[in-house]
Amino acid sequence: MATSRIIVTGANGQLGSCLREIAVNFPRFEFVFTDVEELDITDQGAVKQCFEQQKPQWIINAAAYTAVDGAESEPEKAFSINAQAVGILAKESAAVGASFLHISTDYVFDGSNPNPLTENDITNPLSVYGKSKLEGEQLAMAGNANTVIIRTSWLYSEYGNNFVRTIRRLGSEKQQIDVVADQWGCPTSAHALAEAIMRIVAKPVFGLYHYSNEGVTNWALFAEEIMALSGLACRVKHITTAEYPAAAAPRPEFSILDKKRIKQTFQLNIAEWEDCLQRVIEKL
Ligand SMILES: NC(=O)c1ccc[n+]([C@@H]2O[C@H](COP(=O)([O-])OP(=O)(O)OC[C@H]3O[C@@H](n4cnc5c(N)ncnc54)[C@H](OP(=O)(O)O)[C@@H]3O)[C@@H](O)[C@H]2O)c1
Repeated sequence: MATSRIIVTGANGQLGSCLREIAVNFPRFEFVFTDVEELDITDQGAVKQCFEQQKPQWIINAAAYTAVDGAESEPEKAFSINAQAVGILAKESAAVGASFLHISTDYVFDGSNPNPLTENDITNPLSVYGKSKLEGEQLAMAGNANTVIIRTSWLYSEYGNNFVRTIRRLGSEKQQIDVVADQWGCPTSAHALAEAIMRIVAKPVFGLYHYSNEGVTNWALFAEEIMALSGLACRVKHITTAEYPAAAAPRPEFSILDKKRIKQTFQLNIAEWEDCLQRVIEKL
């Protein structure tokens, strides 16, 4: 069988690293992993040249500006990477006949709806990061008709900077930490997301999807589970968002993603967040 080429951008990040791990399980695809040194997604000329040379069937965009608080003081950089560059990838992938898979975020919602959020729910991002990601979604859809967008939430893995690694570090240094308990959502293992992505790429139905692990929690309960699974005795004090002024960016109170569409379309079974967390903690 002829192989199809997939270019992964931002491949040194959490999601990109998880895609690298499972690539061997998909021999019908030839993966080309790139990060900013090989392919800066904000550089239209470089993107165009790369796609024309490589002739990919898929672009998976795992590149992003993910510093939610940092984006408040660096809006140009956040919009350049999360919005304009996504438009470039979409347009240039369409120009070579490739499909485009892009990742977005639950932070496109304002958090006022306590019910699980569907793909049809109205977006209203509170932060610069959320606004830049929403504009990225719009440019992706406008630039390439064969686009899949997956909104995900609270992504973590054994790679890079994320909540799980931060809490484990703090938990080994301190006897007690303060964690907000009034923001509700669901953690997502980047490994689980990578598996879901490959299911979609193998048999695509283009469009917008929500994906996280199963369950609902808040950051303080998430931190307690990380401590427990890591054998750390550090106590987690539940505080309110108002008591944690260090965060520059406003975050949604509720951002629980409804996953019916992705589960039904791709016959996906999604694991509970605690089970995936345990697997990642075993690797750390
Ligand atoms: N992390 C979360 O909690 C979360 C939640 C919801 C959705 N998401 C979305 O999920 C996706 C994957 O997130 P992640 O946590 O895996 O991200 P990540 O670990 O921050 O990885 C992003 C990668 O993109 C690279 N990158 C930055 N600018 C680039 C450019 N101009 N050209 C090429 N590469 C560039 C980064 O390099 P540097 O490290 O050198 O900048 C990094 O290697 C993103 O779209 C993100 O918005 C994440």
